[in-house]
Amino acid sequence: PRLDEMYNAFDFESVAKNVLPPDAWAYYSSGSDDEVTMRENHNAFHRIWLRPRVMVDVAKIDMSTSMLGTKTAIPLYITATALGKLGHPDGEKVLTRAAAKRDVIQMIPTLASCSFDEIVATRANNQTQWLQLYVNSDRTVTQKFVEHAEKSGIKGLFITADAPQLGRREKDMRQKYSQEAPDEMDNDDSFQRDEGAARAISAFIDPSLNWKDVAWFKSITKMPIIIKGIQTAEDAVLAWKYGCAGVVLSNHGGRQLDFAPSAVEILPEVIDALKREGCDPKKDFDVYIDGGIRRGSDIFKAVALGAKGVGIGRPFLFAMSGYGDKGVERLIQLYQDELEMCMRLMGAKTIEDITPDMVDIRNLKDH
Ligand code: FNR
Repeated sequence: PRLDEMYNAFDFESVAKNVLPPDAWAYYSSGSDDEVTMRENHNAFHRIWLRPRVMVDVAKIDMSTSMLGTKTAIPLYITATALGKLGHPDGEKVLTRAAAKRDVIQMIPTLASCSFDEIVATRANNQTQWLQLYVNSDRTVTQKFVEHAEKSGIKGLFITADAPQLGRREKDMRQKYSQEAPDEMDNDDSFQRDEGAARAISAFIDPSLNWKDVAWFKSITKMPIIIKGIQTAEDAVLAWKYGCAGVVLSNHGGRQLDFAPSAVEILPEVIDALKREGCDPKKDFDVYIDGGIRRGSDIFKAVALGAKGVGIGRPFLFAMSGYGDKGVERLIQLYQDELEMCMRLMGAKTIEDITPDMVDIRNLKDH
């Protein structure tokens, strides 16, 4: 279909399924085990209903906001997803260019296909980039990378905490097996059946990473430190107590622990717990969520429940794979159009006008 016939995030997914090589589709689309968490991530939004307010002057809608000190066009960012070149020859640079055009923030993955320096060099003037960090068992490698990132103008360090071991993404594993194993190896016990793109690239990740390491990170960088992959209120409070600048509530797009809850489901209890500790989320401490955000109304619901912004992963990979720069730009525009309409119909003119009483979460816990 032509790009102007793409009307939402799901349209891009259907196209990507058709145009991507099977191994790329498997790597991008898979979740872990039975993929219950992956499906739940978007489904959870269906259990949140809206309480629209009418007779409000909504002639002008302003959805701009700021995240970690950066003004952005909309409370969303392009989150880190590894191996961009599986979907497009320019890889992550496609996302950088489109993010610049639309004034949104891009989080660069440690496991990008393009080199870190290449992605940074693609940046436009004043464009903000963050870094997603996988911590290396060799801390000198990590220290060099973090220092280099700070010198390169990266504005936030997002340390991934939900992947001390990689989840079993069976679609990905099978794909690699059938693609790479010659027939003769079918009876060879030494053949690595549980490979897959993900496992092949992640052996260096340090499973000993723990809360005490936050102090070390704070000693080597001035960048704000955000823990990505928080899945309970208890851990969000610990991130606050250990001096982090924020958290991303995330289950890694349902690719790690199956039956982990969706980020949006735990968001209300996280905000409550932080407030009980005397923390003012949005002022002292940023709470982001990612996973399953596919509609402008999903963004609205997240903001209403206290998120500073949302990360979006697969939809941008799919838009990039099908249509390159223009696809990613259009998808950002679609999210903007959807959020604008949602805000107007909800009677919220600005991001600050989006308040908790605008959502009904009575059914959120009913699975
Ligand atoms: C990811 N994600 C991820 N996260 C991370 O911290 N480091 C990484 O290298 C990757 N790589 C990655 C690859 C692919 C193909 C996907 C789909 C996801 C997780 C990502 O940052 C984010 O948490 C989820 O993608 C959000 O869910 P949605 O928007 O994809 O539903």
